Amino acid sequence: MARKLAAGNWKMNGSVAALAEVDALVADLPTGCEVLLCPPATLIAPMVARAGGSGLQVGAQTCHSAASGAHTGDISAAMLAEAGASHVITGHSERRTDHGETDAEVAAQTQAVLEAGMIAIVCVGETEAERDADVTLQVITTQLAGSIPDAAEPTRIVVAYEPVWAIGTGRTPTLDQIAEVHAHMRAELSARMGESAAHDIPLLYGGSVKPGNAAEIFAVADVDGALVGGASLKAADFGPIAAALAAS
Ligand code: 13P
Repeated sequence: MARKLAAGNWKMNGSVAALAEVDALVADLPTGCEVLLCPPATLIAPMVARAGGSGLQVGAQTCHSAASGAHTGDISAAMLAEAGASHVITGHSERRTDHGETDAEVAAQTQAVLEAGMIAIVCVGETEAERDADVTLQVITTQLAGSIPDAAEPTRIVVAYEPVWAIGTGRTPTLDQIAEVHAHMRAELSARMGESAAHDIPLLYGGSVKPGNAAEIFAVADVDGALVGGASLKAADFGPIAAALAAS
């Protein structure tokens, strides 16, 4: 059984004032799962300081694939690690769309995250048009194969299934649809890395996870946690989601 992870992605939201949410979250942090928040890069170091020794982990939302150089505005994996990040999200659909990131670029970023000693949360997911065209599993196969570098150590990889049409929309796939994609991902990873390694990789579901639907999603086979957007901004929402995972 893979370790359980409740991960929050603040996206381009938050401020120093919002770090008060960290106090509320760590006051009641569940012990039955790992809990991670990925704020904007400027808040990583202050959030790490605020989390103290609570066990709350802090991550980043993307990084450049190069170690350093003439890349104005970008941040390297080593810089994020130095700021205190334990994880970096790679290949989020908003990065793929807004910044044209390809699977090859995502794989290079993922490699940089691993080389900097952190854990990569690699995101995959189909668009609504792809689901309607009944090519979801093919899309997932292609993204998984292309976005995870060959040298990746399974213990340092997390995969998040985030259907693009479920992000920020309040719509979610049926539990059967989530189960189908997660079983498919586990099978693909098993074929590539071996069954035992693949079973150690946490598979997260992301897209409109809320306190009200978290428990039923966590009961789905091969769902080891969630990557939560909007509902991770408030401890009053993210805390109960993490608690539901710990209890699952
Ligand atoms: P929402 O939970 O706001 O739908 O966002 C999901 C997401 O994109 C997390 O990375």
